Amino acid sequence: MSRRILGYIVGEALPYKFTIASDRPVRVGDYGVVEHGGMRALCMVEKAASGSGVLAGSARPMVVKRIHELAEERGEGVLDLYYLASMQVLTDLDAAREGRPRIPSEPPPPSTPVWEAERDELEGVYAPGGRRWIRIGRLLRNEEVEVRIDVNSIVTRHLAVLSMTGYGKSNLVAVLADRIGGLGGTIVIFDVHGEYSGIRAKWAKVRRAPAVINPLGLGERELADLLDFPPQASRQRILLGEAMRNARERFDVETMRSGEFLDIIEGELGRKAVDCKGRECEVARGALERFRSARRWYSSVFDTNAVSPAESIVEGVVNVIDVSGLTDMQLDAAVSHYLSSIFLDRRRAYRRARSNLKAPVVVVVEEAHVLLPANGESTTKQWAGRIAREGRKFGVGLVAISQRPRRIDQDVLSQMSSMALMRITQREDQASIRSATEGLSEELVEQLSGLNPGEALLMGPWVRMPALVKVDLHEGKLVGGDVDAMSEWQRPSSGPAESDLLDLD
Ligand SMILES: Nc1ncnc2c1ncn2[C@@H]1O[C@H](COP(=O)(O)OP(=O)(O)OP(=O)(O)O)[C@@H](O)[C@H]1O
Ligand SMILES: [Mg+2]
Repeated sequence: MSRRILGYIVGEALPYKFTIASDRPVRVGDYGVVEHGGMRALCMVEKAASGSGVLAGSARPMVVKRIHELAEERGEGVLDLYYLASMQVLTDLDAAREGRPRIPSEPPPPSTPVWEAERDELEGVYAPGGRRWIRIGRLLRNEEVEVRIDVNSIVTRHLAVLSMTGYGKSNLVAVLADRIGGLGGTIVIFDVHGEYSGIRAKWAKVRRAPAVINPLGLGERELADLLDFPPQASRQRILLGEAMRNARERFDVETMRSGEFLDIIEGELGRKAVDCKGRECEVARGALERFRSARRWYSSVFDTNAVSPAESIVEGVVNVIDVSGLTDMQLDAAVSHYLSSIFLDRRRAYRRARSNLKAPVVVVVEEAHVLLPANGESTTKQWAGRIAREGRKFGVGLVAISQRPRRIDQDVLSQMSSMALMRITQREDQASIRSATEGLSEELVEQLSGLNPGEALLMGPWVRMPALVKVDLHEGKLVGGDVDAMSEWQRPSSGPAESDLLDLD
């Protein structure tokens, strides 16, 4: 079959960017190959537009109506249609095949034809062989071409998965986790909304576990956060800290039973609530009350016999840690406790000291705009920042997921070298992604508004070249998606008895 021409270069061309004109529609994400200067360069459409030679500049409705009628009678030729496409030059194809992509140094001359890219050319770039390249989906406009990502680069360069709600972030995480777990990798997913509770993997083993924290391993601030002592209750937090210190002195790890450490803290607070003067008593009673109710409420999270998070993670499987039902402050304390433990353990492993996690770990943080906020402090932000900066040395990869990119700390976001970007329509979100992502053009970021669920722009070192991809649909069950209110309302249920209902007549 002869090769088709996508269009011809028009206007001024740059070595890395030019425009083509075509007599047929061209779509964002289409690939072309231009031959010049002794090399073949692969390029991708990042903006597409159509126009009419006849209608150019005419805004008079009567003229447009008449031409439309003529076109209906005599065919589209009347309109003198043309299609323009901005193309980004991605790489010299031969260099990319050898794993060293590079942009040609000379601009192609205007009028040069741009050919449609062929399957083997695209596969050479997007489906490299080798164990570290794993499948994530197919090219959006060339469905026969598989897209593979470099799993090593998730560990060494980190990944951000960003989109509006319901466009496929958790699905992509499930696909990745299944494939990485299937290769014997260790993943830890903090399941904030219980979305992964039903995940069934095809290749990986999945282990679900509640977040269980040993209060003995907590700092004073962490315990106060986990017990939901608000930051403004600073005097109550100080009392709790004192009680914790006193309890630590009295607690004997060898002989005491689970729960006794918290009993001692409660006893300390109780003593302060009696042994006090004036205003002090109010603070102490408030702290005691808060401690008692939080302890009842979150009894399942605390266990004085629990091993450290790093010891609790099972290697070679997908560990789904249930952190649903926690307040934002508790979430921060719980996730940061896990992150610090995993990071420090891997650092010990790297230094050949005693450690539990013998091989690299990928941690997935959902709700990154809450846990890694742009405005305000969080303990998770400190540890995630550390993992983002130093994790590559010790083999801890960070995957940050969010629906509100503009609210994520920009420092951490810009450390996420790889990106999976799905539909994002808000200008401010697009702007913050652009400033955090190298090589993301304004044209391409605008195209994010037009993506459908499961369609993603992949950028950064985890792909050889930027790609518009249809991500595979995870086959195992994943809770999430929208609630079907109508079906739920219509499902027979044990509602109130007929006699309990008020008669509205
Ligand atoms: N790759 C895909 N192919 C086909 N459908 C998909 C794909 N990814 C997601 N979907 C559809 O979109 C729905 C929402 O996906 P998902 O739960 O992954 O979105 P999300 O971005 O995580 O949403 P939220 O921000 O609310 O957590 C899925 O239930 C599925 O129907
Ligand atoms: Mg989700």
